[in-house]
Amino acid sequence: MPDTDSDGTVAFNGPRELTYRVVAMPADTNAAGDIFGGWLMSQIDIAGSVLAVREARGRVATVAVKELRFIAPIKVGDLVSCYSQVVSVGRTSVRVHVEAEASRQRSPHIEDQELVADAILVYVALDESGRPRPIHGESQ
Ligand SMILES: CC(C)(COP(=O)(O)OP(=O)(O)OC[C@H]1O[C@@H](n2cnc3c(N)ncnc32)[C@H](O)[C@@H]1OP(=O)(O)O)[C@@H](O)C(=O)NCCC(=O)NCCS
Repeated sequence: MPDTDSDGTVAFNGPRELTYRVVAMPADTNAAGDIFGGWLMSQIDIAGSVLAVREARGRVATVAVKELRFIAPIKVGDLVSCYSQVVSVGRTSVRVHVEAEASRQRSPHIEDQELVADAILVYVALDESGRPRPIHGESQ
């Protein structure tokens, strides 16, 4: 059973799912030739939104990125897999934990995956006018 806080936020321990997979390309590098952190943030945002849209049953917007950590560098050619998990659902918001793992395509241990970043993202369900929308409906 999920735990419910006094503000109605429901804590989940949902399944961790692969929600996005992409190969880091030369166009994703910064001036030093390393993969740009902003590129990875974008992939993580997309990955988390997959579960947020599903939970909210519709349009969402990212309202906050919490505790983003860059743990290890990504190289050109690495296969980046993002695993996402819904951690809580509020009145209009969904919190998703995303872990990005890299498989080093230029390594003999290609099957190994290394945690390279993680973050908690907050998405808000939106109505047609772009205003926050109750996720599970409510009579007003
Ligand atoms: C999303 C948006 C409509 C929310 O408007 P708002 O006036 O902040 O709405 P509210 O204050 O009612 O908050 C809505 C929910 O978001 C949560 N929230 C808002 N700001 C937050 C923050 N900084 N951190 C965590 N949660 C936050 C609130 O707690 C609330 O959750 P709940 O209903 O589950 O309790 C508005 O902030 C917006 O349009 N932001 C831009 C979104 C965007 O363009 N994202 C892409 C960036 S490129």
